[in-house]
Amino acid sequence: MHALHKTILELYRDNGDRMYAGEPVTQLEHAWQCGRLAEKSGANAALQLASWLHDLGHLWVNSPGTPTLRGEDDLHEVVAADLLAPVFGQAVAEPVRLHVQAKRYLVASNPAYAAKLSQDSSRSLNLQGGPMSAQECAGFESKPYFKDALKLRVWDDLGKKKAWFEDSREDALQYLEKLMRAASS
Ligand SMILES: [Fe+2]
Ligand SMILES: [Fe+2]
Repeated sequence: MHALHKTILELYRDNGDRMYAGEPVTQLEHAWQCGRLAEKSGANAALQLASWLHDLGHLWVNSPGTPTLRGEDDLHEVVAADLLAPVFGQAVAEPVRLHVQAKRYLVASNPAYAAKLSQDSSRSLNLQGGPMSAQECAGFESKPYFKDALKLRVWDDLGKKKAWFEDSREDALQYLEKLMRAASS
């Protein structure tokens, strides 16, 4: 097994029970729900894995509590994308890198989306630069994986459901391991 696969599994095994700040799910539940939503939507292995691991940066930097409440942006999307790119390639890393930008894009282009954002996502939006300008939206649309990032973002927002976690932790981690193998071959 690749060293990064092992590290990722250990992070979710050891720290996956941490609550996702401001939401009624743990980090592992949120990751699992996003992976399941991607799978149910027919996403390929790379995008399923990106959905699973989009918030890996929160576990990696391990900042306690709720960073956005302290007025900090942990840049978790950049941290995770830089970790994932050398092993899994752009199709996994780039949707992860863009998932915060995707929120800024959707808020600017879709008022109904902005109204439905969770409290923590709204709070962090301002730290992350607020809604995109028209010029920023055009720049975002020119990025190769922006459509995958928009799909991931929708699953990200939906994957915060209380009591929707159907696997045991070990089953969930086994599924993640299988996806990592599929996405790196
Ligand atoms: Fe995130
Ligand atoms: Fe997330």
